[in-house]
Amino acid sequence: MVTTLRASVPEFPSPSLKTTRGYFNSHGDFGVSVSQFGRRRFLIPSRVFAVSDINKLVTEFDPKIPLERASTPPSSWYTDPQFYSFELDRVFYGGWQAVGYSDQIKESRDFFTGRLGDVEYVVCRDDNGKIHAFHNVCSHHASILASGNGKKSCFVCPYHGWTYSLSGSLVKATRMTGIENFALNEMGLKPLKVAVWGHFVLLKVTQATSRDGEVETDGLVASEWLGTSVGRLSQGGVDSPLSYICRREYTIDCNWKVFCDNYLDGGYHVPYAHKGLMSGLDLETYSTTIFEKVSIQECGGGSKVGEDGFDRLGSQALYAFVYPNFMINRYGPWMDTNLVRPLGPRKCKVVFDYFLDPSLKDDEAFIKRSLEESDRVQMEDVVLCESVQRGLESQAYDKGRYALVEKPMHHFHCLLHHNLKL
Ligand code: FES
Ligand SMILES: [Fe+2]
Repeated sequence: MVTTLRASVPEFPSPSLKTTRGYFNSHGDFGVSVSQFGRRRFLIPSRVFAVSDINKLVTEFDPKIPLERASTPPSSWYTDPQFYSFELDRVFYGGWQAVGYSDQIKESRDFFTGRLGDVEYVVCRDDNGKIHAFHNVCSHHASILASGNGKKSCFVCPYHGWTYSLSGSLVKATRMTGIENFALNEMGLKPLKVAVWGHFVLLKVTQATSRDGEVETDGLVASEWLGTSVGRLSQGGVDSPLSYICRREYTIDCNWKVFCDNYLDGGYHVPYAHKGLMSGLDLETYSTTIFEKVSIQECGGGSKVGEDGFDRLGSQALYAFVYPNFMINRYGPWMDTNLVRPLGPRKCKVVFDYFLDPSLKDDEAFIKRSLEESDRVQMEDVVLCESVQRGLESQAYDKGRYALVEKPMHHFHCLLHHNLKL
């Protein structure tokens, strides 16, 4: 599963959407013409906006100013609906994105679905064991084809019953007798690039060119996704054998970046907002390493071991942020991942997946107590994030400043700027 890793450092991938010019559409809205999947489309057609407005917002943050003198991005990055739409197109398409974990497609006929920006996707393993990913949209009248996750031998559209194989071919189109110039083999599902690295399933939203070679598992993917942090992450045990335990989801009333920022403040908020967690960490040992699109925060374990020997955090904790919206937390016998799904300018859902050292996978008491502790920390973060969102929306605030420990947050904002600049 884990593949040979290459040492090459990838270029920062350019966005798949190419902005060409601003113009008025037939409704009189001013927008941007972009190309995606070989088609031209008008970005944000329902709202009047000017390229210069977006560009002005983007350039209000200057990545060339060092952190010591820099201000944070303006609050409009976290509140403006037009900025949000623009950001979805530019930030989430083009590079590899973590969308699930490999146990979800462990066996033939396993599948799961999801949404990335406005891309609906389905990932599955066919009867020959091959992994596929497709746009989860029926070729007939665009119904979403599969929902949730589980096992299926084929995908039957719930609308009019068109049926697709797990390799994406249309195998039955109901009541199409008499229709001319219609070929089943031209109406299959549109493929997406998919890759597996360690425990993680990755997708890349670009125009796929062929049915074959959709699955990419070589070291180039790891190097493209994680850059030169791969070795450090492997050393930290993020790809070691672990048992999948469970999923927890938190819907939060904040922009997706507020959650990321909170994660990336170098432990700044821990002593004030997570008093319970603090005793399990030795914050004196907190350190941050910045890679191309990954930042890794590390911290030694604290003195907190329960009288009964309960120790969820162990002696070393590693918190890796993979731009733009994925976090990998490895501590003691646990690993949890946090996938931040944007749901609107001021709403996101954070999906937590928990993995545990196989030797403890049947220790129900340990798992229950660990998950309760973890949930307490998440709920503390939910309160912080929702509070920050309300503050960002107030007239009193526009920009803030960084503390030195907030280096990973500054790095995140610089990467965003790189993706967003026109
Ligand atoms: S939309 Fe899927 S069969 Fe009609
Ligand atoms: Fe926190």
